Parts: sequence; C-alpha cells; structure tokens
Amino acid sequence: MRDILPPESARRRELTKQFVTQCELAGYHEVVPPLLEDLGVFLRVGEATDVVTKEMYDFVDKDQTRIALRPEMTAGVMRAFVQHRPVLPWKVWYAGTNFRHERPQKGRYRMFDQLGVEALGVDDADLDVEIISLASRFFASLGLRQVTLLINSLGEHEDREQYTEAVRLYLLAHQYELSEASQATLERNPLRVLDSKREEDRQIIADAPLVADYLSEDSADHYARVLSGLDSLGVSYTEDPRLVRGLDYYRRTTFEFAAEALDSAQNAIGGGGRYDGLAEAMGGPATDGVGFALGVDRILLACDAEGVFATEPTMLNVFVIDTVSGDAARDITHQLRAAGISADRRFGGGSMKSQMKSADRSGARFALIIGEDELAADEVTLRPMLGNKADGEQRRVARADLLSELSRYSSQTVTNQINPHPADSASADPTNSGTLT
Ligand code: HAM
Repeated sequence: MRDILPPESARRRELTKQFVTQCELAGYHEVVPPLLEDLGVFLRVGEATDVVTKEMYDFVDKDQTRIALRPEMTAGVMRAFVQHRPVLPWKVWYAGTNFRHERPQKGRYRMFDQLGVEALGVDDADLDVEIISLASRFFASLGLRQVTLLINSLGEHEDREQYTEAVRLYLLAHQYELSEASQATLERNPLRVLDSKREEDRQIIADAPLVADYLSEDSADHYARVLSGLDSLGVSYTEDPRLVRGLDYYRRTTFEFAAEALDSAQNAIGGGGRYDGLAEAMGGPATDGVGFALGVDRILLACDAEGVFATEPTMLNVFVIDTVSGDAARDITHQLRAAGISADRRFGGGSMKSQMKSADRSGARFALIIGEDELAADEVTLRPMLGNKADGEQRRVARADLLSELSRYSSQTVTNQINPHPADSASADPTNSGTLT
C-alpha cells in the first residue's frame, strides 16, 4: 500500500476534476458504492477471473459475514443498480480506490484508484461509441497524444462460449509448446492465454482461432456500428482480435487504452466493454450495460512519460507575519479566509527573518507583515513576493482597507449563494463587510 502525499495528491485531484468535467458534459452523474461488499457480489463477476479468485482482500467480519475490499467498481455499481432500480438509462461515473493482492511493481499496486463510467439499460452501439469517445476526450484534455485504443468484439454469450471452446481445443493441441504459466492459465481460463506476452507463446497465439469467425450476425452488426461510429467521430482505433481482457463479464464490445509511452507490461491505462449478462448474475432483470475504468496511477505515469499535465501547486494569496504577539496573525488569517482569500501564517512566533523564510517557502503571493509600528498605526505592510508587476510595490495599508485591497488579487471568487448560514454572509462576502476589523 502507498501513501499519496502533496503535491502528488493535488495532481490526482486535478486529474479527477478533468474527468468529472467530461462525464458531466455527457450527462453522467456520480455514484459512490461502498469500499467493501459481501464477498458474493464480487464472486459473481466470474469464477475464472483472477481478480476475484486470487487477488481479493477478503475477511470474515464480526457478524461472520464474508466481506471483501472491492477489487474493481463495476460489480458494486451493478449491485447498487439491482438494489435501487433507478430509471433507465442510468449513466453514472465514479472515482475510487480498489484493492488487489498483486505483486507490486511500477504501475501495478495493491491499492490503486480508478475513474470510470457505467451506462445501463441501452442496447445501442452508439452508447459504446459515447463512452469510448468520452475517455478519449479526457485523455486529450490532459494533453496525452500517444494513446492507442485497442478494440475487439467477443460476441454474445453463445458466441463467446463457442469461441472459448475452439481456443481451448486449439491450445490443448499445443499445450506442451506453451509457457508453464500459460499451461496453468489454459486450465482455468483458455481465453486469458491469448493475453500472454511471453515469447514462447507468441507464435501459438498468432495462429489461434479468430473470434471474428464466431460472431453471430447481431454481434457482427453491433461491432460494425461501433467502429463506424468511432470513424465518424474521428476516434482512431486498432482492431485487436486477441483482446480478451482480464474480467469474465464482457460480451460483445471490449476495448483497452494502451499508453505507447509506457512499457508494454504496464501500459494498459484503462479498459472496458459491454457486460450484458451481469445484472442477471447479480439477481436483477436482464439489463444491457457498458462501461470502462481507467487507472489513475498509470495515466499519471503516461503523462510523465509524455511530459504533459504538470499541475501547478495551488497558490496561496497571503502569508501573515506577526512579530508582536500572534494575535493579529490569528485574527487576520481567519478574516481573510472567511472572505475567500487563501491565507496561512507562521505559528509560534519567531524573528522577522525566520518568518520571512516561511513566507518564501509557502509560495504566497503577498507577505502581510505586522510589527510594533504597524500595530500602533492599525495598519499592515503588504509585500509582493513573486515579482509580478501587477502586484505593485511594498506598501502600508490600513487594516480597515485590507480586504478591498486584497480582494482584487484573490484567485477565488467569493459567492454567498451557497452559504449555509445566512447570518454569516456579512463576513463571508467582502463586498458586504468591506473592512477588516
Ligand atoms: P481492469 O482492466 O481490471 O478493468 O482495470 C481497469 C484499469 O485499472 C486498468 O487498465 C489499469 O489501468 C488499472 N489497474 C488495474 N489494476 C491495477 C493495479 N493493480 N495497479 C494500478 N492500476 C491498476 C476493470 O476494473 C473493469 N471494472 C472496467 C470496466 C468498467 N469494465 C466495464 N466497466
């Protein structure tokens, strides 16, 4: 498990913000499923799925219920859907932490965040196109350019079953030429062997049966409409007939986003597809569904590799230095913050020099200095710290004028529309109060 510290934490928050913007533009709303669920919820994802059979953090709680930390979010969202039966179509987004007991390495962690969407209740290829284009707009909004969309169709349930059997028989015939790991995978989940990147497996996989030969007419039509929709929107893709993905619930469209700037072992920055049978598996009515999840850690690694999405730390407006008693620093920071002007201070006193050092380190735009002189005159010294012309020269300002002086520079606009305590609005709105007392 990892700790996420500043400034990395701010970058992740900004990433989520960009994602949410794209989701809300497309009519998706947030869903927040619990971090843990009854183990059975996840087991319904599929018995042949490593994510749920081998990698879950599960335990028995004090009620003797078997619980698991979620390894992904689609299962929980589906459980919520079946439980609450919202009006269809149900279009939701989520951002949250997942847990998988994997071997940690760069880009693969036991605790990791995903951003995702699920859209339920519509059997229309245009919805597949909608969510794929949403993800690609999000990547573009970060400045990522080297992302390849890999796409495939696994067909309906029956198509997939027939194809799986064909692959199983083919691989059995070549069993002893396969890598040891793939021989073990073959027993549990033949399709997953097609995912192997091992050199020994490469040729055998290249000659394996193709799913396209097993698609029903409906599946083939659906897939063709997805591709033509992507063409129409200018979303480029690479068809990958070997793309099977690690989860068992996919039917028809499956896709993955590969960051070309990352090593191929960990370059899947997201993936998804249709899972039309999952609602029934959760005990609900037959409901079509399609969605994806993107890995926050890997997206950020891809951004680093491409040298994009460098976020600036949020700027502090004012750092208050009080060389007298600290009373003025305490009161002024409070009043600035109440007026929506970001402010911080040095605690525990200290010399002017050491307090100025703290102001420098804080990156604040202004140092606001209160010494004996300023206190006696009921004034403060305002010192611009960043060398911006617009911030003017160092000057003395009456405490009564401080808010109006600083509100010109505030990066946060203050609104009192959502003030839950109307009686406080005078102090929350600088145009109402106008003075700092
Ligand atoms: P997934 O392919 O298992 O799909 O995960 C989606 C993404 O999460 C991966 O492409 C990767 O970027 C990231 N990820 C997965 N495991 C790790 C890890 N251990 N460390 C860091 N990042 C990781 C799902 O989870 C499906 N629920 C996606 C979906 C939604 N399908 C339909 N709807």
